Amino acid sequence: MQRFDPVLRQDKVDLDLISLLNTLNTACKEISFRLSQGALAGILGSTTDENIQGETQKKLDVISNDLIKEILLESGLVRAIASEEEDTIVAGSPDGRFLVCFDPLDGSSNIDINSLVGTIFSIMEVPEGMQGANEEMFLQPGTAQVAAGYALYGASTQLALTTGQGVHLFTLDNTIGEFVLTTDKMTICEDTQEFAINMSNQRFWQPAMQQYINDLLAGDTGTRNKNFNMRWIAAMVGDVHRVLTRGGIFTYPSDNRNPNKPYKLRLMYEANPMSFLVEQAGGLSSTGYERIMEIEPTEIHQRVAVILGSKNEVETCLGYHK
Ligand code: AHG
Ligand code: MN
Ligand code: MN
Repeated sequence: MQRFDPVLRQDKVDLDLISLLNTLNTACKEISFRLSQGALAGILGSTTDENIQGETQKKLDVISNDLIKEILLESGLVRAIASEEEDTIVAGSPDGRFLVCFDPLDGSSNIDINSLVGTIFSIMEVPEGMQGANEEMFLQPGTAQVAAGYALYGASTQLALTTGQGVHLFTLDNTIGEFVLTTDKMTICEDTQEFAINMSNQRFWQPAMQQYINDLLAGDTGTRNKNFNMRWIAAMVGDVHRVLTRGGIFTYPSDNRNPNKPYKLRLMYEANPMSFLVEQAGGLSSTGYERIMEIEPTEIHQRVAVILGSKNEVETCLGYHK
């Protein structure tokens, strides 16, 4: 049995990073426990507050955010954090080497129906010579991430992690309270017959995505000459986990429903960490026009179009965008 051990997942051992990953996995265990209590602990439902993005906060969004924030800021390792549920960055230790971005609870609309949710995190280093803590130090492309991962709170709690040496999957063994390595190297198959998109937005998509999805729906009667199945979990963490496990293409494309908000997913808390994992597992991740991990961020809460998954299928989809 191989317990959670990020040492083995790095080519050179970075004790600070290992300690930070252990700190994050402790927070994920706590969230997993709270979720398992559900209605018994009175943690379901919404608060009366909204986050900076105008979304109503669920009680568990706030509980998870506070848990992760506190444990990271007390670790001594983190200069500052940026969270989907915080208006601005929050400063930690003046000597901390790391910056952590996180989505404390992804798939919030699933909480009250006892369905899949998760936590997504992305770790970068403070750029050389930068003192204090400010938003500017977070504005690094996804290629600067030193680690990324997610915890998935499902029938079992799992933790997927990359430090740039492939993707490793751990499963929480509640009898010993530890994450145990259950898949050493997750690999995304290159071809797929499964796609994930919120079809209710179809009329708002750009023509390229309309045409691509129409051709998938036409199945073996259309140009693709094969049938496709569809899945939508409404939690990116669940959809990406499925893609990492058995392949597929996941997309949340741009749409013209609200001209002030053409994209749904957040670059720093969702798109970058998931892109790092997907690329490390042999898949591709793009906006349709550029590699997500090469985007130079302009602000921490920025949003982006996402197309990720099985290499050949993502390439086919990108062909429609040329
Ligand atoms: P969050 O719960 O952190 O706000 O994120 C939800 C995101 C993402 O996880 C998911 O893929 C998508 O929103 C679901 O969107 P729909 O409501 O359009 O299904
Ligand atoms: Mn999310
Ligand atoms: Mn969230």
